[in-house]
Amino acid sequence: MKTRITELFSIQHPIIQGGMHYVSFAELAAAVSNAGGLGIITALTQKTPADLAKEIARCREMTDKPFGVNLTFLPTVTAPDYPGYIGAIIDGGVKIVETAGRNPQEHLPGLKDAGIKVIHKCTSVRHALKAESIGCDAVSVDGFECGGHPGEDDIPNMILLPRAAEELKIPFVASGGMANGRSLAASLALGADGINMGTRFIATKEAPVHENVKKAVVAATELDTRLVMRPLRNTERVMRNAAVDRLLEKEASLGHDIKFEDIIEEVAGVYPKIMMEGDMDAGAWSCGMVAGLIHDIPTCRELVDRIMSEAEGIIRNRLASML
Ligand SMILES: Cc1cc2nc3c(=O)[nH]c(=O)nc-3n(C[C@H](O)[C@H](O)[C@H](O)COP(=O)(O)O)c2cc1C
Repeated sequence: MKTRITELFSIQHPIIQGGMHYVSFAELAAAVSNAGGLGIITALTQKTPADLAKEIARCREMTDKPFGVNLTFLPTVTAPDYPGYIGAIIDGGVKIVETAGRNPQEHLPGLKDAGIKVIHKCTSVRHALKAESIGCDAVSVDGFECGGHPGEDDIPNMILLPRAAEELKIPFVASGGMANGRSLAASLALGADGINMGTRFIATKEAPVHENVKKAVVAATELDTRLVMRPLRNTERVMRNAAVDRLLEKEASLGHDIKFEDIIEEVAGVYPKIMMEGDMDAGAWSCGMVAGLIHDIPTCRELVDRIMSEAEGIIRNRLASML
């Protein structure tokens, strides 16, 4: 299958693995890239730019295929050392960066000068158009279904993707709620050039997270996620658990007076406990509604091959036979 995304990134299949905090280490990124998709390492999971440089080198030892690095621009007061991380990306010879969060404009010249292609992840058509206007090469359009931060507009992909197709000139991938060949065929029909998946890639053999996390994703249904931090305008879709119930009770009782400090116990620094130690109630962790479509723990290659053959079957047989 050839799309504007496979051409842009020189990859075999139009399937991207989105950056995931404490999940997207070199093992996963390399496995996805070796399967013909685009694997992505998450920069901020690495404590320093030097650690990111090592992670990039580790990934390169495991694959000779293209892979990318995710740079998430957080709404924090004390910013991480973004110039340092960007330096590690450039020195490491990485040619694809997935940006997310705030507008990446100030960092684009440095990335573009180094010949790096930038795909910006955003949750609205206006932000996608902004990304196009500042020179991003592609966008990842993240619908309301997505695991992580869906923004505040609450537009699901059935509307968001064809709206993006109406407005954008640069290629885009559909993100949020993607799991199988149906997702890919539907996304292509809605105007996208491929798919980006987060939650689905957690439940793979190579994802370097605790088995409890993979089992929790497989066990969950589409009813098991919740939106937290909405009153702080930092909405996050997470897997429901004891900590999330506690957090939502605090949101209900404190109302608009709630501050980040009130929920720090449920959200700050919880990822290592969940992803590495498998303590599934340690706090709120991102997970998409798509958990309801995830029923097994394949290798990345099995997953990618299955998605491609399912999508091809749908396009060639099911859809063509209706004409
Ligand atoms: C556990 C987890 C952690 C994530 N961490 C990040 C992150 O650090 N930066 C980022 O840009 N996106 C992050 N995301 C979002 C994913 O990259 C992707 O956009 C999203 O998962 C797509 O929705 P899906 O889960 O329905 O596939 C995370 C998602 C999950 C599930």
